[in-house]
Amino acid sequence: GGQGLPERGGENAFDCAIIESVRISKSLHGVGGLRPETFRNTGGRNVNEAINWAHSGPDVFEKIPLEDIDVSNPELFRDNVAEKLFSRLRKEDPVHFCKTSMFGPYWSVTKFKDIVQVETNPKVYSSDHSYGGITIIDGESNSAVVLPMFIAMDPPKHDVQRKAVSPVVAPENLAKLEGLIRQRTARALAELPVNETFNWVELVSKNLTTQMLATLFDFPWEDRAKLTYWSDVTTALRGTGLVDTEEQRMAILGECAAYMTRLWNERVNAEPGNDLISLLAHSDATRNMAPEEFMGNVLLLIVGGNDTTRNTMSGSVLALNTHMAEYEKLCANPSLIPSMVSETIRWQTPLSHMRRTALEDTELGGKLIRKGDKVVMWYASGNRDEDEIENANSYLIDRAQPRHHLSFGFGIHRCVGNRLAELQLRIVWEEALKRWPKAGQIQVVGEPKRVLSPFVQGYESLPVRIAA
Ligand code: HEM
Repeated sequence: GGQGLPERGGENAFDCAIIESVRISKSLHGVGGLRPETFRNTGGRNVNEAINWAHSGPDVFEKIPLEDIDVSNPELFRDNVAEKLFSRLRKEDPVHFCKTSMFGPYWSVTKFKDIVQVETNPKVYSSDHSYGGITIIDGESNSAVVLPMFIAMDPPKHDVQRKAVSPVVAPENLAKLEGLIRQRTARALAELPVNETFNWVELVSKNLTTQMLATLFDFPWEDRAKLTYWSDVTTALRGTGLVDTEEQRMAILGECAAYMTRLWNERVNAEPGNDLISLLAHSDATRNMAPEEFMGNVLLLIVGGNDTTRNTMSGSVLALNTHMAEYEKLCANPSLIPSMVSETIRWQTPLSHMRRTALEDTELGGKLIRKGDKVVMWYASGNRDEDEIENANSYLIDRAQPRHHLSFGFGIHRCVGNRLAELQLRIVWEEALKRWPKAGQIQVVGEPKRVLSPFVQGYESLPVRIAA
């Protein structure tokens, strides 16, 4: 076994270390020849101050001058209208610079092929957290996003840490997990109320993905709701209800750190298990991680495996209800479930983007990207790119190549959990159609409430009624 985390002083020493690491990361902004003004942003602003395009008239999206387009406005995603601007950018200015936004200046990459070009050049386009991380939201706006975690690292460190946790989502382990996932899914569905309206997000999507996380971490079952809470706290935009200040966010995540450290300490000298904590504790690449790195990677695994899958579970019900012909196709031919799952992941694009930082001057789509620039790859847009995907704007559950999409990213950071996500979603629908085999039986009966975020595309609530 490894030596575990270095001994820490008092109870709270761990979260002090995290806050310290955030401070250090921030002080790194602007060093190494990167232009400091690139990192200046308006992170202190509240989302409510964002310019509200969505409510300023019906054809506002056609009229906005190109240079004023800011697709990072979170209201665009809550109101489900971002595509109106993305379609303009893909046509008129596929690699687009936005001078001012609530997240500072940034480039938007909106075409499938250009996104692939950025993803496949990690030497030019860095993921490193010290430059601000992997989302448009910098550390000033969200202290959790500058923690070191392998999604926010470049090779070679990224590669070894990714390898350390991969066994838990490898095909052999997934095959072992399938029975358990099916059993739990069937039970959760059996417990749903019938002939009455309920929130699908709570009773199905959150419930099942929380159970899954508890399994992956071998986390105490009765405490499992904490995992989802920590995930939501990590990604919440400040001022949207869950988190008001960065101090508050770090205090809550400090509780997460303390809890996970306790599990680490229990497992580091025990027989190696196949849960994520044991894998981190026993792998050469990760067992001597700094505390903030442990915390960062734990949060990555909590967040990565959680609301993405959750929001696709909700999105699948919504997509089928708004495309009844597809729902009917599915019920007539349940062997389409796997391709329906992939199509829903494309349609939903649970993470609207990933971000990189240019480490040198470079050219992209005819534009000069400067060293230090923030480059945002809008998967939500690439997934609607007609030059790459036929009928990209339609939801079709029987596509020839349903896995050809960008929702899992591309290249060395491509989602390590993608097969697990697909497995969970496939099982939900296999079990759901066994119980309720007729199209429309799982019925959306009201408007979904969408998440206010330029990063997570998902649902707060989705009212559903099952006709038994
Ligand atoms: C990375 C999406 C499910 C764990 C990513 C990335 C995306 C993504 C976009 C970054 C890719 C890139 O930068 O090129 C999704 C979606 C999911 C999902 C849409 C569900 C539908 C999961 C699950 C897990 C997971 C279930 C956990 C078990 C991770 C991890 C990374 C990652 C650890 C970092 C990989 C790396 O940096 O090498 N995911 N994910 N994800 N995802 Fe997922």
